[in-house]
Amino acid sequence: MTGVRGARGVHIAAVDDDIRERLATLPWDRPLAQWDGVQFGSLGLSRHTVRAVECGQAEALAETLIIKETDEGRAGDEYRLLCSLRDAGQPAVRPLGVVTGRTTPTAGALITQRLTPAARYDEILRDGPRSTAAHSVVDAFAGLLARLHQAGFFWGDAALSNTLFSPGQAGYTAWLVDAETGELHPRLSDGQTAHDLQLARLNMAGELYASTSTAAEADAAAVRALDSRLAETYRSLVGQG
Ligand SMILES: Nc1ncnc2c1ncn2[C@@H]1O[C@H](COP(=O)(O)OP(=O)(O)OP(=O)(O)O)[C@@H](O)[C@H]1O
Ligand SMILES: [Mg+2]
Repeated sequence: MTGVRGARGVHIAAVDDDIRERLATLPWDRPLAQWDGVQFGSLGLSRHTVRAVECGQAEALAETLIIKETDEGRAGDEYRLLCSLRDAGQPAVRPLGVVTGRTTPTAGALITQRLTPAARYDEILRDGPRSTAAHSVVDAFAGLLARLHQAGFFWGDAALSNTLFSPGQAGYTAWLVDAETGELHPRLSDGQTAHDLQLARLNMAGELYASTSTAAEADAAAVRALDSRLAETYRSLVGQG
């Protein structure tokens, strides 16, 4: 990791010097929502200001960064956690850097590499929980949760909206996006994994209900079936099946 403190106290830590130099060209003295030239592509709902920013010297190098504005402590914690997940070979968005010491109302920022190709669950399930892609999304989400738990990662906010899905020939692969509430332990207790699974089920059911456009009983039944599928797939993957 490489870091440098700028003239006005802004500190940029990054995974390498090239990234750090590129991050140093960005206007950290202004709130992210006021930056010019950022792509206002739809990134889904989020509590923080999250933007996609092109940051390359030449077109060939151009790369989309995802910048999440958040307080300094949280930005640093999430960056370190994402670095640990990367080192452990876990499927999570790739950390690029963290900025602290900004004079803006929100003093920190986390920078990750835009995951591509990838889609949000609400883009995949535009036709609601009865769409044919729903099984693949749920299987991928269950697989991600099982894998993270086996690596000792307690998510704390497992949700479809904190996950991205890459298409592949055998269905979707799920990637962890939002590690803000996560904790890495040598291993998780049964209580921790049960709690995390319970939250994943609650969050997913709420998100799937929200994706329904009608109050049809068939939609409600589809959500219940997907909830059972999540629990069963997860349990079979962690050997509780
Ligand atoms: N590296 C990335 N690649 C692609 N999209 C991303 C990336 N990081 C974040 N996003 C998009 O931005 C959205 C918001 O990011 P994130 O969940 O980290 O923000 P948040 O404000 O912490 O969310 P929450 O409201 O759950 O607290 C994600 O749902 C995802 O769609
Ligand atoms: Mg989120």
